[in-house]
Amino acid sequence: MVHDLAPLDRAKLAAARRAVDLVEDGMKLGLGTGSTAAWMVRCLAEKVREEGLRVSCVPTSLRTATLARELDLKVVPLEEAGWLDLTIDGADEFDADLALIKGGGGALLQEKIVATASDRMVVISDATKEVKTLGAFPLPVEVIPFGWQASRMLIEEMLGAMDVMGTQASLRMNGARPFFTDEGNHILDLALGRIGNPRQLSLALNQVPGVVENGLFIDICDAVVIGHADGRVIFRDAIAGTEEEEHILFEEADNIFREI
Ligand code: A5P
Repeated sequence: MVHDLAPLDRAKLAAARRAVDLVEDGMKLGLGTGSTAAWMVRCLAEKVREEGLRVSCVPTSLRTATLARELDLKVVPLEEAGWLDLTIDGADEFDADLALIKGGGGALLQEKIVATASDRMVVISDATKEVKTLGAFPLPVEVIPFGWQASRMLIEEMLGAMDVMGTQASLRMNGARPFFTDEGNHILDLALGRIGNPRQLSLALNQVPGVVENGLFIDICDAVVIGHADGRVIFRDAIAGTEEEEHILFEEADNIFREI
């Protein structure tokens, strides 16, 4: 039950529970990927069942699609949904402007497409992901497998002219083999240390041949829900310019464990 969870999971669950309060009947939703997003999918399934909501869900990965279907959520492809009301997703880092690093789970391409095809994107996070300057988390960049070494060399050369601390790009591995995304691509993780100008870097990365997309999300996220292990949540809304503190009652979340 909730009180058996590690503090970090309680924090993620608190953020997830608050975020699904934004869901209304008839909405078309984007479902993020990762451990925090998985809590959100469980909370959403519970809410949909209890309130009899009709919502359509567009997942951002095969993993999320599988979980959503297991929990009886209606899953549709983005091509069918067309445009979404709300996307809720996790992040690896976020700053004061709600610029994000995403892609730690390798789903950044679908995550960016789904988030930008939504009226509103809300990030759910524990407090450890809030940073002053992006870049301590290695920046994921999705590249096509053809000639990925050449793309890596071009990226490292380009990074030399950027406002970053490091320039090393590593191929993400899955055991002894390269990691493949759901789209059949590879991920290069860039050890940048600090990103002085995320907007400039994002534009430059996407100019490199072979790069499909990068994990910088700029001017995409509208609000962040920061969860704490004691149930406290901070709801920071960049559009409204507001920040509110609330409390989640964990006892009410115990139902979600029946589905797992
Ligand atoms: C998936 O590709 C990522 O963008 C995730 O949203 C991000 O890595 C956060 O994941 P966790 O919630 O597991 O930390």
